[in-house]
Amino acid sequence: MQHCYQCHSAEAQKTKKLRGGLLLDSRAGLLKGGDSGPAIVAGKPAEGSLLKALRHDGEVKMPPRGKLSGPILADFEQWLKLGAPDPRDGVLVAVKPVDIPEGKKFWSFQPLRKATPPGSEGPAPGRETTSTASFSPHSKRAD
Ligand code: HEC
Repeated sequence: MQHCYQCHSAEAQKTKKLRGGLLLDSRAGLLKGGDSGPAIVAGKPAEGSLLKALRHDGEVKMPPRGKLSGPILADFEQWLKLGAPDPRDGVLVAVKPVDIPEGKKFWSFQPLRKATPPGSEGPAPGRETTSTASFSPHSKRAD
């Protein structure tokens, strides 16, 4: 779509560069279409002027400076077949399936293990004198 916004977007409208009366940067714009009718038809997106223009089969050939490359065109067609979902509507184009086994590896789903707190096997080497005194729960506070 970035190939199109230059001439078909609200931005282009602001700068008076809008072409064909067509706004492609919103779903409303796509459904409303341009001078020759809706760019996409709700329910049957492939019937709008958009796909025809992209395929260069018809009077309007878009983008004007050359047909989109095969893979990009195929993406467009796929998108139109899906009903032209618009991520800006909050509709996800592709929902990643949840990987349950992978998710179970997350640390909080691991069974509890007996943890050995540091220092419980005895005072840390080289710290004998100070650590036992200051960390002993039985030592009386001098107050
Ligand atoms: C350089 C400017 C420019 C770019 C970039 C451009 N267009 Fe257009 N577009 C036009 C012009 C000008 C018209 C009117 C053409 C006509 O009526 O012959 C038009 C018309 C259209 C129409 C028909 C609108 C109608 O109802 O008449 C469609 C659909 C369309 N463009 C889709 C696209 C798509 C999709 C892209 C991107 C892949 C694109 N355009 C890129 C200039 C542009």
